[in-house]
Amino acid sequence: MKSQLLEILAVSAFSILTVSTSVAKTPVYKDSKAPIEQRVEDLLSQMTMEEKLGQLSQINSFNDPKWNVVLYQNIKDGKIGSIINEVNGKRIDSLQRMAVKQSRLGIPVLFGRDVIHGYKTIFPIPLGQAATFDPEVIAAGAHAAAVESSSDGIRWTFSPMVDISRDPRWGRIAESAGEDPYLASVVGSAMIKGYQGANLSDATSIAACAKHFFGYGASEGGRDYNSTFIPERTMRNVYLPPFESAVKAGAATFMTSFNDNDGIPASANHHILTDILRGEWGFKGFVVSDWSSITEMINHGFCSDAKDAACKSANAGVDMDMVSGCYLKYLPELVNEGKVPMSVVDNAVRNVLRIKFQLGLFEHPFISTPQTVKYSAENLAAAKQSAEESVIMLKNEGDVLPLTSGVTTLAVVGPLANAPYEQMGTWTFDGEKSHTVTPLNAIKSMFGKNLNIIYEPALAYSRDNSTEGIAKAVDAAKRADVVLAFVGEEAILSGEAHCLASLNLVGAQSQLISALAATGKPVVTVVMAGRPLTIGKQLDESKAMLYCFHPGTMGGEAIADILFGKASPSGKTPVTFPKSTGQIPIYYCHNNTGRPANRTETLIDKIPVEAGQTSLGCTSFLLDDGFDPLVPFGFGLSYGKFSYSGITLDKSTYSAGDVIHASVTLANAGSHDATEVAQLYIRDKVGSVTRPVKELKAFRRVALKAGESTRVDFELPVSDLAFYGIDMKRTVEPGDFTLWIGTDSNASLSASFSVK
Ligand code: NOJ
Repeated sequence: MKSQLLEILAVSAFSILTVSTSVAKTPVYKDSKAPIEQRVEDLLSQMTMEEKLGQLSQINSFNDPKWNVVLYQNIKDGKIGSIINEVNGKRIDSLQRMAVKQSRLGIPVLFGRDVIHGYKTIFPIPLGQAATFDPEVIAAGAHAAAVESSSDGIRWTFSPMVDISRDPRWGRIAESAGEDPYLASVVGSAMIKGYQGANLSDATSIAACAKHFFGYGASEGGRDYNSTFIPERTMRNVYLPPFESAVKAGAATFMTSFNDNDGIPASANHHILTDILRGEWGFKGFVVSDWSSITEMINHGFCSDAKDAACKSANAGVDMDMVSGCYLKYLPELVNEGKVPMSVVDNAVRNVLRIKFQLGLFEHPFISTPQTVKYSAENLAAAKQSAEESVIMLKNEGDVLPLTSGVTTLAVVGPLANAPYEQMGTWTFDGEKSHTVTPLNAIKSMFGKNLNIIYEPALAYSRDNSTEGIAKAVDAAKRADVVLAFVGEEAILSGEAHCLASLNLVGAQSQLISALAATGKPVVTVVMAGRPLTIGKQLDESKAMLYCFHPGTMGGEAIADILFGKASPSGKTPVTFPKSTGQIPIYYCHNNTGRPANRTETLIDKIPVEAGQTSLGCTSFLLDDGFDPLVPFGFGLSYGKFSYSGITLDKSTYSAGDVIHASVTLANAGSHDATEVAQLYIRDKVGSVTRPVKELKAFRRVALKAGESTRVDFELPVSDLAFYGIDMKRTVEPGDFTLWIGTDSNASLSASFSVK
């Protein structure tokens, strides 16, 4: 798609004022030893209005001979600050050469790309990475993505997405870290550290972009781009913490979101973009709009035209316009008319230049990372580890897994068993399916001729409604000792603008699992999807189930290792799985209501005819689906047999400034070495405003050999108990708390403490 900005540039390309070139011989801004702020000021002082607005404008790459004439001229005229979606390294270097060598001031272009979960080597989708609860593995994945993408000249990614999402109908839940503010903060910060490396100026570091600021994941009805209605306190307690953490982790850039919250589109929200982001959090990077999100405010009915939109966005604090062209076109008149102060433009330019200096683009504008980093053995190993840790075991009846003995014939069925493109998941622009290892291929190469594998996909793809192939799969199941059924979603069913009203398995997959189960053979179901699906029926019909959010390039090997016991599953659900879409939104850290469900309520099938009005229990539950979800947050089984006991706290009363030392004994009584994610939750019993029934505050991955036990220690600063209460100030309120440590959000082993 050609960007609107390119069209605007075409009109003005040859009508530029010639600027006299009285640049000093070695200007301060070219001195790599000078402090960055001095370099920024020096450069800013030499820039024309058009050059300034160029820095605030990003165009979409469009490689076409006619447009290239315009593009090249505009780069040389210093009117393009950033280009999105160019991935050809040679072209990037040649465009960069024009900017650096042929423009008046030699300001390098910043090339950006959606490198969301890997560039060439594809890692699990972010929701899957969140399921690892492993910040080191997540950072390693982001680092691999940075190394690979920088080898093509891409120095800016539009990741991490740290939107809290409690609605799996929303397709972009796939790109999120799920429902929890703490987990999303840890995941987002790990990604930022991985992308940006030790120094942003390293040739293999790329700038991160915390998005979408803010509230996007709460879009009404799970429909993408939709309005949100998040009040200030919920915004601060739930939706903003991952963004504040992103600032603390050093995120170079932020992106505004498409939604309007309570009537104010994010790209014109001064309170968020300026008061909070810059004022309260001290953010020094730059803010980019989302794709045309500035001019989309006309559709919102918030702006009368593109000029009005440019005015509102610039004044609110959006520094760079992604592809709409409205800054370049309208900011000159808006400044002349006094509607946008020149200081707003100058500050925005400062913010952009600061990041370009930090990236070292002025010193090393061209590609220096070797091409061999793509799909390197190191990156593939990191992707495999990430995929392996992301696998969540939801059921393992009778320890049917791992498949270590008694299997001589295996039936491999289902549309996802050998779907190299689909298992890469959403937002895979650059990964190639030819590099994907599918479960079928991984199992084949694991066993060679030592295992009789009957492969019958039954369905050509996940939405395939044809039931014709099911008979063959059933026949294969009958001849096999165990059935492995790979079902789920194609990549296109999740991600941006790919939302669903029903979360049941699509196509004839449900019939397939039922038919396989009816053979009486043990069915192990492996789900690959971009979101939690309502898979209660399949859970019942399967002996075991592995849930894999689209696991990426190395997913097949990772899954095979788990199925056959080379590794134990250790993933945990980063989001609550609903029984039905009617339960949505459903999340563990909800408030309690005045009439909490007590699980003794009468459900629909048990209601007597002509039951009395109040006879069912007047509590907060659904007549048909009760109260509990299908799978709670933080849940995931293991081949180890973990138990928790002996919870202790170092004190019973703490003061502000203290650190709570909590500890528990974790034992693995099983016969497999395994890793458990021990989770610490708290509840603030009485607050100046109602508080969630449980909040995740810490977690640790603990590896235990078979038969081993250990003390697991947590240190929780009392300051981490703070929240925005009745006076809208972040405070730790004195009072009583419960603290749990356990295997998931249903943890019951608890201790009590107070804060004075
Ligand atoms: C729109 C998406 O919302 C955003 O996440 C993405 O980074 C931009 N387009 C750029 O492709």
